[in-house]
Amino acid sequence: MIAENPSISEIAARAHQSFNELYQSTPTITAVAPGRVNLIGEHVDYCDGIVLPLAISRYVVISARPNDSKIAHITGPGLDPVKFDISAPQITSDKKWANYLGGVTQGFLDLNYHIPGFDAYIESTLPLGAGLSSSTALECCFATLIEGLVDTVLPTHEKTRIALESERKHSNAPSGISDQFASAYGAEDHLILIDCQSREADLIPFNDPTLSFLIVDTCVSHDLGDELYLERFGSAFRALHLLDKPSWRDVTMDDVYQNEEKLGETLYRRAKHIVTETQRAPLAANVLTNGDFASIGKIMADSHRSLRDDFQVSCDELDLIVGLANEIGFEGGVLGARMTGSGFGGSALILCRTDQLEEIAKKINRAYEAETGIIPIIFSTRPSKGAHILS
Ligand code: GLA
Repeated sequence: MIAENPSISEIAARAHQSFNELYQSTPTITAVAPGRVNLIGEHVDYCDGIVLPLAISRYVVISARPNDSKIAHITGPGLDPVKFDISAPQITSDKKWANYLGGVTQGFLDLNYHIPGFDAYIESTLPLGAGLSSSTALECCFATLIEGLVDTVLPTHEKTRIALESERKHSNAPSGISDQFASAYGAEDHLILIDCQSREADLIPFNDPTLSFLIVDTCVSHDLGDELYLERFGSAFRALHLLDKPSWRDVTMDDVYQNEEKLGETLYRRAKHIVTETQRAPLAANVLTNGDFASIGKIMADSHRSLRDDFQVSCDELDLIVGLANEIGFEGGVLGARMTGSGFGGSALILCRTDQLEEIAKKINRAYEAETGIIPIIFSTRPSKGAHILS
């Protein structure tokens, strides 16, 4: 019922073998970067908000070897091979993934690094379109690979900047900083509390082995090619302008209440979500630090309600999964549940007792399939280490 999570060494072994078959040689360097989920802090990273994600145990792995040329050859399962001049990465292909890599390369060239040509093979265990930041993991993994190829380690905030700039340039939507931060700063047994205004990241311990997360991919996407994300992004800025404040961090709930009429119903609701969600993230971090796991469920429920009713980015399938998890409840081993990611499909996150994971997954799988006819993809995760080179 719970899909397997191949270990990093298993994924790397697959990448090495494919590399071998394709290039008839052995890779000299392998980089890995995880996807992410947010425990709390959705749609506030582009509003100077505070978010609390974790890096998950699903990864992008890239194995490579310098090839004594100026050319990078890159491919992977189901990916049409790309080839570009590493000193002038003008990728004009319609392959988004290749453009992300070109953007990351450009970020290093702008810092005056001389990158050698190389052959590379990509493997991934991150489902695409599940709201788990597969493109971010690719960017962070590639940036880490280039660090290895040029024998440097950039400050983590600098690496995330390069990955984020590539994402913003080559995807159709704007985005906040949280995905890249989570993939780069992730740490085993820790969540990451990110202040998106100061861009500081603090690690919050999550090391109780009796607790784990289930990620349930609804296997649906109602996102109209990033349009809905763009609309939310724009409405946040319109609301801030009407509130006449320099940053969302200067906005209190009193400001929101007092400006209800001026904002109008939609922007009023959006503003309510942004202010309350930013309050919830440090609250959740405190609750976890104090081991008060019972309270986390209420914070997750408030967050889900706010995303569903005020920010309006949930959908029937996500609400169904969250509802099913809540029905199972504390007695059945569920401590909390909410949608995660940008919404309109994608995945839900459930905080569970580790010894009841199988039972919970079974119930959700059965009920979700009966209601929608879709078999969800369910896997478990604990907080994982961020992007790094494999030794
Ligand atoms: C996407 C974006 C992030 C963030 C989330 C919603 O994943 O890339 O920056 O805005 O949506 O929280």
